[in-house]
Amino acid sequence: MGNGSRESLVIDNTVDGLFRVNRRVFTDPSILEWERERVFERCWIYAGHESEIPHAGDFRARNVAGRPVILVRGSDGQVRVLLNTCTHRGSLVCWQPSGNARSFQCPYHAWTFSNQGELIGVPGEEAYSAAFDRQELALAVAPRVESYRGFVFMSFNPSMEGLVEYLAGAREYLDLVCDQSEVGMEIVGGTHLYSMRANWKLLVENSIDGYHAPITHQRYFEFLVEMGVDSARIRRTGAGRSLGNGHAVIESAPAPGGRPIASWAPMFGEATKAELAAIQRKFEDRFGPERAYRITQTNRNLLVFPNLIINDIMAITVRTFFPRAPDYMEISAWALAPIDERPEHRAMRLDNFLTFLGPGGFATPDDVEMLEACQRGFANREVAWSDISRGMTREHPLTNDDLQMRAFWRRWHELITVPEGIEAPLQPTVAI
Ligand code: FES
Ligand SMILES: [Fe+2]
Repeated sequence: MGNGSRESLVIDNTVDGLFRVNRRVFTDPSILEWERERVFERCWIYAGHESEIPHAGDFRARNVAGRPVILVRGSDGQVRVLLNTCTHRGSLVCWQPSGNARSFQCPYHAWTFSNQGELIGVPGEEAYSAAFDRQELALAVAPRVESYRGFVFMSFNPSMEGLVEYLAGAREYLDLVCDQSEVGMEIVGGTHLYSMRANWKLLVENSIDGYHAPITHQRYFEFLVEMGVDSARIRRTGAGRSLGNGHAVIESAPAPGGRPIASWAPMFGEATKAELAAIQRKFEDRFGPERAYRITQTNRNLLVFPNLIINDIMAITVRTFFPRAPDYMEISAWALAPIDERPEHRAMRLDNFLTFLGPGGFATPDDVEMLEACQRGFANREVAWSDISRGMTREHPLTNDDLQMRAFWRRWHELITVPEGIEAPLQPTVAI
């Protein structure tokens, strides 16, 4: 399969306002191979949050972009991404999902590595020749690791531009999330691990798809009204934006399900009303009314290309996922919250999180069902194209248009089609 067929995967007709994606991108194993090489091996990929490893020796072993890695804070305090494979014969050296360790001992022949990756123990080392070099046999590390305000990314592309440059316009939206606390944000303990029999890019689309919300999640909006939410808040307005390099966002206000930071909703109870109003005033003093409104009252669903979603809505979820097969992905999701939140406030936030975003919430099971249904539908290969044209001729695309998805697809297509050996240049924001 040559580049010619890659080029026919996306139709981007800005003259007539038609944007189509060939459904082969969701089913063809050779496309997944290209994605591994050209997307997951080249971009900055979210590995975890610094708050998950606050103390020296803390670690999280997880799969990132299909690789077993250890996100670890070494005894020297530095955050590293160690590649979880023994330099002896390959076994995983860290088998526990999380913990605190000064060293990792491989269970196969008991080679031992420090939490900074150095090889510090080899049983019967005298049997090796003088050429045996412990330093050379340290655990490998991801070639690039950088963090932005606690969000740790790694890249297997040594010539990748810096993370801040890569984040482009997405940085402003990460700031709107991070500015919700003066002392910092933290991942709340516990991970939602789940899977879907669907292509990973369907979850990218779905996570920034305002069009489906009132349809697929109709019951949630009915629930809100039953709880006493003013139905005018449900007809919210907002915009979809391309943020450069494939990143995109939908942003809208007011927040119908409330925002535990400082946007009150009836589910939070009358007693919290005054507290949230006081918090709002503090934000206004700190940031001025306009920025405070954006931070506290505005919902945003942010995609950091290719596979990090931050839904800062009725609670904040950090979600990332990776394909195991064209029709199967594994998803990890966490709740993010201000470190300095009072326990009662935290409980209210987590309740709001679980109501919509949790594994048994109003959203997640229905979204899983929809995406798996799309994947099943793709068996009808005669229907070759999916449509992503909505709002393409509108001057100011809305949250229920598809501009944000087109931003993703254009970058994806560019990375898939760029000639071998050439770095795809940074991509500016797109207006349609
Ligand atoms: S494979 Fe790890 S010690 Fe042999
Ligand atoms: Fe959804």
